[in-house]
Amino acid sequence: MANETNQFQAIISHCKEYGFIFPSSEIYDGLQAVYDYGQMGSELKKNIKDYWWKSMTQLQDNIVGIDAAIFMHPTTWKASGHVDNFNDPMIDNKDSKKRYRVDHLIEAYSDELRVASHENKADEIIADMEQLLAKDDFTGLKKLIEDNKISCAISGTCNWTDIRQFNLMFSTEFGSTVSSEDADNKVYLRPETAQGIFVNFLNVQKTGRMKIPFGIAQIGKAFRNEIVARQFIFRMREFEQMEMQFFIRPGTQKEWYEKWKETRLNWHKSLGIPAEKYRFHDHVKLAHYADAACDIEFEFPMGFKELEGIHSRTDFDLKQHQEYSKKKQQYFDNDLDPATGKPYGNYIPYVIETSIGLDRMFLAVISHAYEEQDLSTPEKPDSRVVLHLPTKLAPIKMAVLPLNKKDGLPEIAGQIINECRGDFRCFYEEKDSIGRRYRRMDALGTPFCVTVDYQTKDDNTVTIRHRDSMLQERVAISELKRIVLESIG
Ligand code: GAP
Repeated sequence: MANETNQFQAIISHCKEYGFIFPSSEIYDGLQAVYDYGQMGSELKKNIKDYWWKSMTQLQDNIVGIDAAIFMHPTTWKASGHVDNFNDPMIDNKDSKKRYRVDHLIEAYSDELRVASHENKADEIIADMEQLLAKDDFTGLKKLIEDNKISCAISGTCNWTDIRQFNLMFSTEFGSTVSSEDADNKVYLRPETAQGIFVNFLNVQKTGRMKIPFGIAQIGKAFRNEIVARQFIFRMREFEQMEMQFFIRPGTQKEWYEKWKETRLNWHKSLGIPAEKYRFHDHVKLAHYADAACDIEFEFPMGFKELEGIHSRTDFDLKQHQEYSKKKQQYFDNDLDPATGKPYGNYIPYVIETSIGLDRMFLAVISHAYEEQDLSTPEKPDSRVVLHLPTKLAPIKMAVLPLNKKDGLPEIAGQIINECRGDFRCFYEEKDSIGRRYRRMDALGTPFCVTVDYQTKDDNTVTIRHRDSMLQERVAISELKRIVLESIG
């Protein structure tokens, strides 16, 4: 655990030191569970977004994207069930006054048991917890906490309140003269992007002439008043989701659920991260809208945790919106039903949802990419920190480094950048020794460093250094664009 904690802390420090992620409003000591992406982080995040968007829309025959507003009519959240059901069971420690999400408190304890090599006991506690959560058995959950003497990390005591439910949605008011008590003016910051898709189902279906099965994808901010917001960008109060709702004929949900599980896992593996870093976890307690659900879990530095959810949401959401809005949410399917020989006719489609947190994906990518390498030789100690980011995600694809600040070398470097910057992001650096510049680029995850030297002036060749192998080769300047584009894929 010490190593895992150290590794995680090292990644957090690295993110700050190299301009990936800063605590929000840091000069005012930050805001808990809110983070800003810096000059490198915003590029990496955008590259992840683009990769998801392209594979979920452009490379699919029947999925289109939208960009719905964060504010939605408040009835949306009544219809979706979030006003009544988007709660988490919480427990307060009476001595420290600290509030915990019950599942997080028990999970943290089971993690400690695992570290102490009591895996069986840890599995048993998690299984008990899942069963009790599934039954909303709060007395049983409190007993589980007390029987195992699970204590508060701050006070160290087991002096707990009863377990209560807390709603996770943030709300604010619309307009300027209203009182905060005026329920009519209360709007929510969306806790998921999915509802923006559901309320636009017919708009997109009709204007896009979409035929079932089809999907609607969206990337956008979501907000949750997480009580125990911790573990860096793993659990945030403001975060981004990449969601896709796939509308299908009722009765076909099992087959599409399996298909999307496989498709999404393959998407993850296509980034070159080994398969053993992922696993499926079936939900025991299903959300109020689902008839089947699982998580794709990833092995983060703090262990296997949820990265993405695949949910079979039935016709719950569209049916609810139909009821609350009094507007039909039906689709007319004129394909012939082989059983009757007649068109399937009108129905409310079923939905399979894929939902991944962009920030969590960022954490998965960067924590897998991070490596501290010992490069010492018997002659001299040496080390480097390197981010083995896939080229398509790396913030900078190619750094161009003149060996010297004079003799026309910077000008040649500038020409190389001008030639390539339309196709991918390049970076110019002339400060420090070449060795130090290589190390800095390794730490930023830059896959290629190009050095312009005196030979370049004679024969238009440069040295290209590969980040992971550190191998260097001499190539013609005219070859550079091809090499980098091939690696982007
Ligand atoms: N529309 C379904 C939905 O929102 P969810 O399992 O609550 O399902 C989906 O969330 C994904 O969003 C999660 O798998 C996770 O990656 C991400 N996510 C959820 N809450 C988050 C938070 N507080 N901080 C960062 N990411 C979060």
